[in-house]
Amino acid sequence: MLNQEFIKRGFGLIPSEYYVSDENLPSIHDLRKIFDTELEEDGSQFRKRAYLKLQWERLKEQIQIAKNQAYFQTSNSNQVDGGKIRRFKILNEYILDIPIVRNILEKNISMINAYSPLKSENDLTIGMHFIRYQANENHASYSSPDWLHQDDEPLVFVHLINLSKTALGGDNLIADIDTKKVTHVLRLENDIETLVLNKNVYHAVTPLGSRKGIAFRDVILFTIEPSQTQQHK
Ligand SMILES: [Fe+2]
Repeated sequence: MLNQEFIKRGFGLIPSEYYVSDENLPSIHDLRKIFDTELEEDGSQFRKRAYLKLQWERLKEQIQIAKNQAYFQTSNSNQVDGGKIRRFKILNEYILDIPIVRNILEKNISMINAYSPLKSENDLTIGMHFIRYQANENHASYSSPDWLHQDDEPLVFVHLINLSKTALGGDNLIADIDTKKVTHVLRLENDIETLVLNKNVYHAVTPLGSRKGIAFRDVILFTIEPSQTQQHK
């Protein structure tokens, strides 16, 4: 799926059906509950998150919970919150037993396993960021960074978990690597609908607003990078 065309284009959409089956469909309810109960404010009153870092050894086909769960972003990739270690609430590893989460992890790993730019890397770090953007009629919710940027990681999956009917915005923007002009506006709307990005585009998410009452946008950001490029292991 993440073929030469994807590498060059810099982004791709993966439909829900790729991850969701009759067997794991009921567990989406359990996954959504995690967003209601396990996330904590991350510096903004209108954004909550929790995090789990994993280590994947390609040759041994082994996944482990990372010993050091600190999260670091360069200031290059995030001028607002980058350049410092951010400690988020760590998710309990039982989330990996939720069938839909297990399937997301397995499917992503099999795509990453076949992804040629990372072929020579044996030790890879996976970040699973559970993020809720929460807005009301009087206050929008922003992502951090809030405009066009590139992430530190060479490959990032954005999985939509839940989007309120009352939500406004929360659209994904894709921009040209050279001109930084927006070329595509995408909206993830279905359960587990997924956007994959590499570093051949810039990207952003538009602020989330609400038509009425409280609106949510729940996503899992699934990042992958060679462990040696992690500046703070
Ligand atoms: Fe990003």
